[in-house]
Amino acid sequence: MSQYPAFSLDLFRLDGQIALVTGAGCGLGNVFARALASAGATVVSADINLASAEQTAEEVRLLGGKALSVEVDVSDVDSVAAMNRAVLQAYGRLDILVNNAGIASPADRIHEMPVEDWDRVNAVNTRGVFLCTKAVLPQMMAQKKGSIINISSVAGLAGVSNDLSAVAANYSASKGAVATLSKQIAVEYGNEGIRCNAIAPGWHLGTQLGREALPLSEADIAAMVEKLHGLTPLNRTGDPEELAGLLVYLASDAASFMTGQVIAHDGGWTAW
Ligand SMILES: NC(=O)c1ccc[n+]([C@@H]2O[C@H](COP(=O)([O-])OP(=O)(O)OC[C@H]3O[C@@H](n4cnc5c(N)ncnc54)[C@H](O)[C@@H]3O)[C@@H](O)[C@H]2O)c1
Repeated sequence: MSQYPAFSLDLFRLDGQIALVTGAGCGLGNVFARALASAGATVVSADINLASAEQTAEEVRLLGGKALSVEVDVSDVDSVAAMNRAVLQAYGRLDILVNNAGIASPADRIHEMPVEDWDRVNAVNTRGVFLCTKAVLPQMMAQKKGSIINISSVAGLAGVSNDLSAVAANYSASKGAVATLSKQIAVEYGNEGIRCNAIAPGWHLGTQLGREALPLSEADIAAMVEKLHGLTPLNRTGDPEELAGLLVYLASDAASFMTGQVIAHDGGWTAW
């Protein structure tokens, strides 16, 4: 018999906690909402597309969880303030914020990129993370507890060829800013009980990211996916569902001493 106690996996539970996920209507945000609910959290599913936010909320309820859907444009100050009010009116607290909403544009090279595409992507991916974080911090400071998880990208850690998916300089720069902003939040608010980490996903296919910007044929997509596999040590792309464990870990007390980290979830893409 071991003289040491067994570890309790209850550390990963989020029972009684309130979690807000932006961009929860589809793709990774939908996975994050279901994952948090599976760990016991009540989920606020927020998206610019209210119908899709409600669809995710309904999926959470079907899992036996509690969820509310809210319409938000994360790039708009008033809209973000209204989302924050809705959360506090409904639950009176907020424990977890997942800044997931994000977009990509056509993968133009820098000298050909329309300035509007730079501004549009950064308005959602960078300004959106700033606005949502700014809005929720006072409540988390009052609680002296909170976990913020920002969704960066491997494209925010190093340059990526324009031939691969919808990755262009506006997207990479926005995700680099998200990585650094996450460290800044961790440093500024650590002594107020607030942790902030970022996940930098590699290629997780099956979401809508960059879909409108990438009018590719099936053959083009197959060729691109083959290239992605060849550049990934695990020789495949990720399944969005594979991100669930890392997200719940970072949200939970299992990560109570983890802050200011940018964790690549990428099949080894950044390990070369
Ligand atoms: N899928 C991947 O491989 C991958 C890799 C790295 C990073 N990411 C990041 O993960 C996040 C989710 O991406 P995804 O692949 O699930 O994309 P997705 O397009 O499937 O989902 C994005 C969601 O965000 C919502 N949204 C867009 N603009 C918004 C706004 N202004 N306000 C509120 N909601 C808005 C959309 O309606 C959609 O529901 C993004 O930040 C993306 O950059 C994804």
